[in-house]
Amino acid sequence: MARHLITSAIPYINGIKHLGNLVGSQLPADLYARYQRARGHEVLYLCATDEHGTPAELAAAKAGKPVADYCAEMWEVQARIAEGFRLSFDHFGRSSSEQNRKLTQHFAARLDDEGLIRETSETQMYSHADGRFLPDRYIEGTCPNCGFEDARGDQCDNCGKLLDPVDLINPHSTISGSTDLEMRETKHLYLRQSAMKDRLEEWIDTREGWPVLTTSIAKKWLNDGDGLQDRGITRDLDWGVPVMKGDQPWPGMEGKVFYVWFDAPIEYIACSQEWVDAGKGDDWERWWRTDKGADDVRYTQFMGKDNVPFHTLSFPVTILGSNEPWKLVDYIKSFNYLNYDGGQFSTSRGRGVFMDQALEILPADYWRWWLLSHAPESSDSEFTWENFQSSVNKDLADVLGNFASRVTKFCRSKFSEAVPAGGSYGAAEEKLIADLTAKIREYEGHMEAIEVRKAASALRAAWVLGNEYLQEVAPWTTFKTDPDQAAAQIRLALNLIRLYAVISAPFIPDASAQLREAMMSDVTDWPEDVAAALGVMKEGDAFAVPEVTFRKITDAEREDWQERFAGTRT
Ligand code: MF3
Ligand code: ZN
Repeated sequence: MARHLITSAIPYINGIKHLGNLVGSQLPADLYARYQRARGHEVLYLCATDEHGTPAELAAAKAGKPVADYCAEMWEVQARIAEGFRLSFDHFGRSSSEQNRKLTQHFAARLDDEGLIRETSETQMYSHADGRFLPDRYIEGTCPNCGFEDARGDQCDNCGKLLDPVDLINPHSTISGSTDLEMRETKHLYLRQSAMKDRLEEWIDTREGWPVLTTSIAKKWLNDGDGLQDRGITRDLDWGVPVMKGDQPWPGMEGKVFYVWFDAPIEYIACSQEWVDAGKGDDWERWWRTDKGADDVRYTQFMGKDNVPFHTLSFPVTILGSNEPWKLVDYIKSFNYLNYDGGQFSTSRGRGVFMDQALEILPADYWRWWLLSHAPESSDSEFTWENFQSSVNKDLADVLGNFASRVTKFCRSKFSEAVPAGGSYGAAEEKLIADLTAKIREYEGHMEAIEVRKAASALRAAWVLGNEYLQEVAPWTTFKTDPDQAAAQIRLALNLIRLYAVISAPFIPDASAQLREAMMSDVTDWPEDVAAALGVMKEGDAFAVPEVTFRKITDAEREDWQERFAGTRT
């Protein structure tokens, strides 16, 4: 039994995520977690909300609420929606937790002791109208790199370049809109990432089999020098982790907090402490401390491509630089973007389908299947309603759903609601078992490699094999001349429904549970031996005809949704 630590990039607290966010981190992480659990491994799958920084402050101000209240409410909202999508976190934490505050302050102290933090006096934008310094997103202006007019103080949404607010051309305050800004002196802490360049490079160069998307981004940043400039890790904000050196005050840093990107990844670790403190586990160190057994852990992170620099460079600097035996990530699975109907999904502009809306119109499995089988792995991919309708109708309704309903209904009408006895398996059944075995081994290989789309198509191909078998042996025809043989064919097919329920569960957990319940089986063992797995349901075992597992999406619905989600959400 192996141990898998799995984290998905922690979503910002400000608002409900769209389907593009979901497919780039939480959903594939959930798929992998469910798969590894199904294979009998020990899994700790953690996620949390990313609550600090200006986005949270701005969103709270907009909602007219104190930021702490706003975050608490939005955490509930996100947790409920995650449940709706059946995201099987072992714990859904909060980066504003006490545990994360302490751990972040601890890391800062360690890094300082290791000589990796320097203090700098710098000039920053001070807004007279607002009576405060304006960090990050409190400033917008024109990107010096690409000319985009609405670039934020910390990053340009158009070209992706990380910025310093002082770089912006024609800056203005997003609080008051004022352009009455002045450069003033203020002190900040910088993480000396540049001092860690060689160690990082060596670490990245020795990662084997990492996705090209991940390593190419990491390398680009390392070699441009851009990503390895020393990074300011403090901000003039009220909301965040107060800058302290462990539990000691940090002279000159009064009233400042750590930059959100410094404390957010530390929450991956703090979340495991929250998990223990919530009484769900009893030892977090065996997952995170290599001196406490975490050497045996395989740690996989999931994220969108925009998050890669922080996970390949900044967070490893924190971990390695601390000189303490913390577990480093073993594998980073990153994703391209999912686009929406000819444009981008956009939270700020409310464009696309958001997680809560998706669940209002269809159950989670429909979305899970489409999103995962179209995951933006080798390139960006696009959601269109036509494609969604046709995938759901073909793969889920016609192939899987129809198989289950045909087989069970036929058995009920010609035999009974129990596995029929009689007949024996011959060449067609042996061929099916051989083909299925090959397909399932292929599926496992793609799942181990986290090739999400390929895994989905291998699974779909396994469903198709069952349909082809049914078509070929045609029990409804066999029945007329040789009812015993038809019984053997149906017996196999009923067992196949149960097997599908087991192997499909990581993708479509609800439908799988429903099918397994209909087969009245609680055997969830992974089909290592396909022939044996197809003999789990024995002659005389009762089953039920399942409720419609997947219904088809009609043209009228599709058109309706297309129109409803064409504009922007307010
Ligand atoms: N909140 C960030 C985003 O959505 C991700 C933070 S990941 C972490 O882009 F590593 F910082 F935790
Ligand atoms: Zn730009």
